[in-house]
Parts: sequence; C-alpha cells; structure tokens
Amino acid sequence: MSHEVVEKNVGLMALLILIVISIGGLVEIIPLFFIKDTTAPVEGLKPYTPLQLEGRDIYIRESCNACHSQMIRPFRAETERYGHYSVAGEFVYDHPFLWGSKRTGPDLARVGGRYSDEWHRVHLINPRFVVPESNMPGFPWLAENKLDTSLIQKKMRVMNKLIAATCNGCQTYSEEEIAKAPEALEGHTEMDALIAYLQSLGTSIKTVR
Ligand code: HEC
Repeated sequence: MSHEVVEKNVGLMALLILIVISIGGLVEIIPLFFIKDTTAPVEGLKPYTPLQLEGRDIYIRESCNACHSQMIRPFRAETERYGHYSVAGEFVYDHPFLWGSKRTGPDLARVGGRYSDEWHRVHLINPRFVVPESNMPGFPWLAENKLDTSLIQKKMRVMNKLIAATCNGCQTYSEEEIAKAPEALEGHTEMDALIAYLQSLGTSIKTVR
C-alpha cells in the first residue's frame, strides 16, 4: 500500500532516493575524517620545501596533471610497474590533491629518485631527446623563467592553515622557515622548482623497483 504511494509520486520518490543515497555516502565518508590512517602523515613524510611547493604550483599551472595521475592502485599490474600502492597518509600535505585518473603518460606518484635531475631537465625541454617515441609536449620555457619569489610566504601561511585544519600530527612551517623562504628560492628557475617537486614524489615509502 504505502509502496504504491511512493511509486505514484515522483517528487516523493526522488526525495526518498536522495535520503537513502546520502546515508550510504555519509557512512563511507564520515569515518575517514576520524581514522588516523587517513589523516596522519606516513612516517618520514615532510612538508614540501619552499622550492618543492613552488614546483608543485608550476606542475598545476602547466597542467601536468591533465596527463599524469599520482595514485597507484593496489593491483599487481600497477604495483609491479610503479612500486608500492599509494596510501592516504602520503598526501596529507597535498592541497589540492593531484590523484587524477587520466593517464596519457605514466603515473608519477613514485617518480621521485627514479631518474637524475639532469634526465628530467632534458626530458622536460623536449621529451623526445630521451624517449624517442614520447608524445609528451616540451616545456622549454621553464628553464628560462626565473622563479617568482613574491608569493611564497603567503603560500606557506595558507598551507599552515590547511594543514592545521585537516591533518593529525603534521608539521607546519615555522616563522623562521617562512622568513627564510624567499632567500631559498633566489636564483632558481621554474625548472629547478619543478624537478625538486618531482624528485620528492612518493619517496617516503620505500619501494622495491
Ligand atoms: C599531453 C600529455 C602530457 C602532458 C601535458 C605531460 N606529460 Fe609527462 N608524459 C606523457 C607521456 C605520454 C609520457 C611517456 C613518454 C615519456 O617518458 O616521455 C610522459 C612521461 C613523463 C615522465 C616520465 C615518467 C616515467 O616514469 O618514466 C615524467 C617525469 C613526466 N612525464 C613529467 C611531466 C611533467 C612534470 C609535466 C608538466 C610540466 C608533464 N609530464 C606533462 C604525457 C604528458
């Protein structure tokens, strides 16, 4: 009887469907805010240095994430190729996350330490210099552009707020680190920053590869 009422009333049915789906969603999402594994850093993970932080912004500006994911799924085909699958605690300093799912190029979650800085430099200027069949575009201007140092202190303060609001047991930047940041960026190109960022990716978990 009552089922008939629901079936004959589209508005009511839509409302009830919405309620049922939200309960399902909330049951999955809410516990993640309280489970330590998902909010605490993995051992050895450090906040990005000022240079890496700038590199991350250049990675986003150049849309590297349009072709590269940063999340290794727990499947054999992935772990044999990329290394240990990604865990939540590796991303506590990532605002925003760059997990993605589009893989025109390989996943980069553990690319840190896989190649030398020099390899990256040549590859980023023109990928075909080192990988002849590559269809990744070159980014030669990064090697010429001097790093803009004017916003780093603001960025670090914002990061501090985001970290404090979302992470259990994370380190924030000290006033001293913030004061010294522009100096640490002095004389570096955008390429240096991007490579510093790439070399940091996924290195807190040891992987056999
Ligand atoms: C149009 C898609 C595309 C874009 C945009 C792109 N890449 Fe790639 N990338 C690829 C492809 C395809 C490969 C595999 C061939 C190669 O190694 O060049 C690759 C390979 C790589 C590799 C080597 C990974 C490995 O494990 O061998 C790195 C590092 C990399 N890209 C970094 C970047 C960075 C940093 C940016 C942004 C500045 C970027 N890519 C932008 C498509 C892209």
